[in-house]
Amino acid sequence: MFDQTELTEFKANWTLFTDSQQELFTKLIENNQSHLFADWDAPGTNDDAKVNFAETLEKTNTNYPGGLTAYITNAQKLLAEAKEGKNPFEGLTPEQPSKVDLSEFGAEYDRYEALGVKQFEKTGIVMVAGGLGERLGYNGIKIDIAVETLESTAYISHYAQCIKAMEARMTTPRSVPFIIMVSRDTGPKTMETLEKNNYFGLQKEQVHILRQELVPAIADNEGSMALKDKYELILKPHGHGDIHMLLYTSGLAKKLHREGIEHFLFIQDTNGQVFNAAAAALGVSAEKDYDFNSIAVNRVPGEAVGGLARLVGENTDLTLNVEYNQLDPLLRATVSPEGDIPNEQGFSMFPGNINVLCIKLSSYVRILEASQGIIAEFVNPKYADESKTTFKKPTRLETMMQDLPKLFSPNEKVGVSIFAREWCFSANKNNIIDAAAKYAAGSPPESSATAEDHFYLVGRQRLREAGVKISDADQELILGVPFTLGPKVILRPSFAMTVAEVKNKVQGGSLSGESTLILDGQDIKLDNVALSGSSALVIKACPGAKVTVKGSFNNDGYKLVKLSEDECSVSSSIPEYLKIRAYKFISRGAAVYEFKEPGEYTVQE
Ligand code: UTP
Repeated sequence: MFDQTELTEFKANWTLFTDSQQELFTKLIENNQSHLFADWDAPGTNDDAKVNFAETLEKTNTNYPGGLTAYITNAQKLLAEAKEGKNPFEGLTPEQPSKVDLSEFGAEYDRYEALGVKQFEKTGIVMVAGGLGERLGYNGIKIDIAVETLESTAYISHYAQCIKAMEARMTTPRSVPFIIMVSRDTGPKTMETLEKNNYFGLQKEQVHILRQELVPAIADNEGSMALKDKYELILKPHGHGDIHMLLYTSGLAKKLHREGIEHFLFIQDTNGQVFNAAAAALGVSAEKDYDFNSIAVNRVPGEAVGGLARLVGENTDLTLNVEYNQLDPLLRATVSPEGDIPNEQGFSMFPGNINVLCIKLSSYVRILEASQGIIAEFVNPKYADESKTTFKKPTRLETMMQDLPKLFSPNEKVGVSIFAREWCFSANKNNIIDAAAKYAAGSPPESSATAEDHFYLVGRQRLREAGVKISDADQELILGVPFTLGPKVILRPSFAMTVAEVKNKVQGGSLSGESTLILDGQDIKLDNVALSGSSALVIKACPGAKVTVKGSFNNDGYKLVKLSEDECSVSSSIPEYLKIRAYKFISRGAAVYEFKEPGEYTVQE
């Protein structure tokens, strides 16, 4: 608490502040925060800094449900538990989660996709895009980066195309709500890119921007807010779990549910594969009536990916993401003395979490109301002493979006939908140097080049499912990161949102060499189209343009040109989105057919 002199010095400044600020200060002093107001200058000295400080406190107070006093109480409780070293899995036994395995195509896959397409008109897309992308080190927002460089489509443009394609497949058309969580760092540039590109063809009203704010850092186990300087708080990110808080405080989850939305699909900023699995995952959510459906991948035991496990205890039955470094010890301590062991296919019983979530809104809204959107916060202080009384540096409360089921009762159904990895997930998060080092160490590079590689891979997979013969190709290392040579395929969302659609639209044909095929438009049909050598065929058809394509195409197409280390350096004038992958494509005369008017057309060579 203050001594009398400090209190007098501070109170001398009282008239600088509004009534609500004075009220907040009083509450903070009652809640162990008098150090924030100690040693203040006399009125007339540093008054602007004092007012700014008051405004920051007020803002952080408004941003957190229950205000700063709730934040401090939560911090004190979690810090006490952390000090005690409480095992979060005490008394819990891991079991396999309820799961649907869609890692292979076939009738079951098609069935779930067909069910999911019917859900499009009751689905909202939620993208968390507040992260700094420090590991990638791109100078700008990640959603502006091109997911592919043949036509240089930005992630945000690709997502907008997917949303438009969902709308085009509805029996009763409506706009798909698109909610984007930004932060102070990503907010202004996100608005700029949306405005500059006319919302990428979406309606402005269907895009909802929510901004996550920073939270105060905490200096000790008593929950004292940390100061950078007199009159300046240390503020830190609270994590992507903020999305739940913002969907609650904005009232948006409740409003959209009232308007008929049944599921939210949560996606990340740079996973260009995610919509490949969207229809089937929605189909699983609908059929199994999952309140929470984690889209997941098979993982090898020990892999640095969180494992999804059902944790069963006396009064507990929860399916959760367990971090990989906690999963193995938990298994050894309970059901498996050998830890996380592989099944016959070489995979762990516990599928890998990729943080793509399909959440049922009726239960979500209920849980948001009950929790005020504060979802399973945690704290991770680094202690400076064995008695765990001091921290090496201030800590803060954090929250992760995948932890929502921690608030579920055994009545809520949590399940997992497993997809082939590159079909549903390819992160673009590492700069080229780190990506090469990861690859050399046997881990996925998760770079811009690998994300683009997987984008084409999915195109080839879909065509193969439709019976097109595609020659296998080798991989080449480009500055230490693997990239697949051979045919490149982009089937735009307008052309197909499901595997069945591709099968319906494509009959026979073959792709070999370094050929390229790009299809954009709902009514394009391919009849035994053959591309070889470096030939490229690009068909773009507006809604209502029915185009049938036949025959073999021969032209010089695109050429992949590698960039040297010099060309990838900071001083080079080459655009950054190319430097971060160390190659570019040069068009040498692709056959491009564009149909801008409705009608029936045939393209034949
Ligand atoms: P990542 O941890 O993969 O991305 O977050 P990052 O934080 O942008 O990257 P680094 O760690 O700085 O290199 C996963 C997803 O969560 C979002 C990111 O934008 C990404 O879509 N995210 C992360 C938020 O929206 N807010 C946050 O506070 C943190």
